Amino acid sequence: MEIHHNLMFFYLLVLAYFFACTEGLSRRDYPAGFIFGAGSSAYQEDIAVMKEIGLDSFRFSISWSRVLPKGKLSGGVNREGVEFYNQLINELLYNDIQPFITLFHWDSPQALEDEYGGFLSTNIVNDYRDYADFCFKEFGDRVKYWVTFNEPNTFSSEGYSNGDTAPGRCSSYEGNCTAGDSATEPYVVAHHILLSHALAVKLYRQKYQEDIAVMKEIGLDSFRNDYRDYADFCFKEFGDRVKYWVTFNEPNTFSSEGYSTGDTAPGRCSSYEGNCTAGDSATEPYVVAHHILLSHASAVKLYRQKYQASQMGEIGITVSTYWMVPKYQTVASTEAAARGLDFAFGWFVNPITYGDYPESMRAIVGNRLPNFTEAQSNTLQGSLDFLGFSDVNNSSLPIQVFLSDSMRVKYHRLHLSSLLKTIRAGVDVRGYYLWSFLDDFEWNSGYTYRFGINYVDYKDELRRYMKNSALWFKDFLQEENVTTMPQTIYSQ
Ligand SMILES: *[C@@H]1O[C@H](CO)[C@@H](O)[C@H](O)[C@H]1NC(C)=O
Ligand SMILES: *[C@@H]1O[C@H](CO)[C@@H](O)[C@H](O)[C@H]1NC(C)=O
Ligand SMILES: *[C@@H]1O[C@H](CO)[C@@H](O)[C@H](O)[C@H]1NC(C)=O
Ligand SMILES: *[C@@H]1O[C@H](CO)[C@@H](O)[C@H](O)[C@H]1NC(C)=O
Ligand SMILES: *[C@@H]1O[C@H](CO)[C@@H](O)[C@H](O)[C@H]1NC(C)=O
Ligand SMILES: *[C@@H]1O[C@H](CO)[C@@H](O)[C@H](O)[C@H]1NC(C)=O
Repeated sequence: MEIHHNLMFFYLLVLAYFFACTEGLSRRDYPAGFIFGAGSSAYQEDIAVMKEIGLDSFRFSISWSRVLPKGKLSGGVNREGVEFYNQLINELLYNDIQPFITLFHWDSPQALEDEYGGFLSTNIVNDYRDYADFCFKEFGDRVKYWVTFNEPNTFSSEGYSNGDTAPGRCSSYEGNCTAGDSATEPYVVAHHILLSHALAVKLYRQKYQEDIAVMKEIGLDSFRNDYRDYADFCFKEFGDRVKYWVTFNEPNTFSSEGYSTGDTAPGRCSSYEGNCTAGDSATEPYVVAHHILLSHASAVKLYRQKYQASQMGEIGITVSTYWMVPKYQTVASTEAAARGLDFAFGWFVNPITYGDYPESMRAIVGNRLPNFTEAQSNTLQGSLDFLGFSDVNNSSLPIQVFLSDSMRVKYHRLHLSSLLKTIRAGVDVRGYYLWSFLDDFEWNSGYTYRFGINYVDYKDELRRYMKNSALWFKDFLQEENVTTMPQTIYSQ
């Protein structure tokens, strides 16, 4: 209660300060209630007043049920509520006033009170965490101060011991409540508040605080992490059953063909490379690759922190490459082969292994190659549980010889026997994904190439026919060696 009284005193001081500073101004100029600085529909005017007074921070609470009407994420979001707080925060910042946000100021959602008794139930802990996560995500790019609970001791005592405030529960010896148990409930409620607080702080530190520090270091003034949010959504929705995740497929191909040669979407390149409407082949591939790497690292970090322990899956990336061998037995040729490998493969695999691009790329690409901050470099290092390889081979065939695809059989047989040699030589290879199961839509080649081991008749209701290669695989896969389990993935 001592603390409570001190806080009351603090509020009175603030009020007194407000009154003192409004001397000389006409209250008629302002809407009723502005002097308390409460967020209202006329918050712009309130903020003007705060600025005039010279306040540099405004403390307010978010109403849980105003943003999540059912108290839970699964119950849906009230976008108008979110928009209200967004505008309030923006207006504050526009006026150089720091928002200082309380997540819970005694207004637990009625839906959760009805469902499980609010803070009397352990269920509240996860719902509170989700609510906090939601607020950090929505507002945390601009809000730097968070209070998890306002006066939880008061809430527990007055709500559950003497029953003076909502939800007004107490024993009959304490007051005139309809239900409650003053001897136990305050302690139960306080316990769940503490657990909720701890979980929210942990989440904030892991998921938001570090990243925000990095953004600050870079000097960014706004924050988007759409790829991570998207990955988060997928992990949450499907991760209970999906145990292998590839963050990006052939990001090197995507960066080169999309932004250097302009062959594939979004088809950007310099005029010396091709006939694109816009682009810069000298810089854009490196910028795109850089953002892919950062997106990859953030998704891996999130997966490891939030999901891996419970979902027990693995996460990695698939990079396409050729192996380069020196054309001549000369130093120049040997170096050229190593350089080629750096640019094709090291571009992505070096950062996710060692935290930076290969030295040869730094030397040659120079200032066109973006830098990682130390924090980014640390997040990138080792950000994979497995590495996928795509081996590019144009084993497409004319349609007329579609079913007897002996070349494809030969291709897979050669690959699989090389793979076996590799495994026997001690390389940790744990899977082989052929491309592809069905004839597919191949980027800018459309349906003109048929990579499938199964033929699709586009002209006859997409009927499927097994090609020789499918029959070959069927035969090949008959007898399984049950002594081993697949793990790291080799994909072609
Ligand atoms: C106690 O609550 C009941 C029901 O709400 C009400 O009728 C009664 O007047 C209250 N008694 C006191 C002493 O407040
Ligand atoms: C280049 O693009 C323009 C505009 O799309 C088109 O008119 C022209 O034919 C193209 N030139 C070549 C060589 O492809
Ligand atoms: C990367 O850092 C180096 C060394 O600090 C600096 O010389 C270079 O200009 C930086 N590159 C970019 C693209 O900022
Ligand atoms: C595949 O090879 C054929 C024949 O060599 C060639 O015409 C075609 O452009 C190649 N397709 C792709 C997708 O590279
Ligand atoms: C693709 O694989 C086949 C069969 O292994 C081989 O004959 C052919 O040369 C390869 N093509 C390319 C472009 O590597
Ligand atoms: C089956 O797998 C085990 C363990 O990897 C290996 O030692 C053995 O040679 C395999 N069996 C055959 C028939 O290849």
